[in-house]
Amino acid sequence: MAYNMHVFQPYPIEQLEFNVFTRLKDDWGTITTEVNGKVNTMTASWGTVGRLWEKNVVCIFVRDSRYTREMLDNSEFFSLSFFDMEKKENRMALKVFGSVSGRNEDKIEAAHFHVNHKKNIPFLDESNFVFLCHKLSCTLISEETIFDKQVLKKFYEDGDYHFLYVGEIMEVMAR
Ligand SMILES: Cc1cc2nc3c(=O)[nH]c(=O)nc-3n(C[C@H](O)[C@H](O)[C@H](O)COP(=O)(O)O)c2cc1C
Repeated sequence: MAYNMHVFQPYPIEQLEFNVFTRLKDDWGTITTEVNGKVNTMTASWGTVGRLWEKNVVCIFVRDSRYTREMLDNSEFFSLSFFDMEKKENRMALKVFGSVSGRNEDKIEAAHFHVNHKKNIPFLDESNFVFLCHKLSCTLISEETIFDKQVLKKFYEDGDYHFLYVGEIMEVMAR
């Protein structure tokens, strides 16, 4: 554990100063999943954090073509992690996690990143802020559900639609 001596601490959600807009847009995050002991991660910059069904939730948007979509469908939990993007190694790793598919190689090992677990939920140990989530629902955002023609044209001409996954935030961790 010499690469990072700071231990993750539970972060009270009521004290969150986290700006979800800038963190997702500028810093990006990673969605980490695990199926049968195999862990994969994917860079994500689309998401929301809020309240639904009397719970604190994270919503993530994952295109049908992603291996992460397949992983999410076969796992009960996932994490959404954020990183110190001033660090060059994190910027480089998130570019790899956002362009290579876990179907073809173990991206985490290739980037020399490490998997950690809390409550049996996988997350990347190099991150500094983590939402540990329990999957609650999955909804296809299809052609019939999008009213804005420009959105359809700009983002879905290839038919690779997003699935919206809602996850209950089980714990927030920071270091
Ligand atoms: C900055 C950035 C943000 C991204 N955000 C998303 C996203 O929110 N949803 C999505 O489906 N793909 C997103 N991607 C693309 C996936 O990260 C990319 O296709 C990845 O290789 C999928 O990995 P997987 O096949 O292992 O799941 C993003 C890529 C980058 C570089």
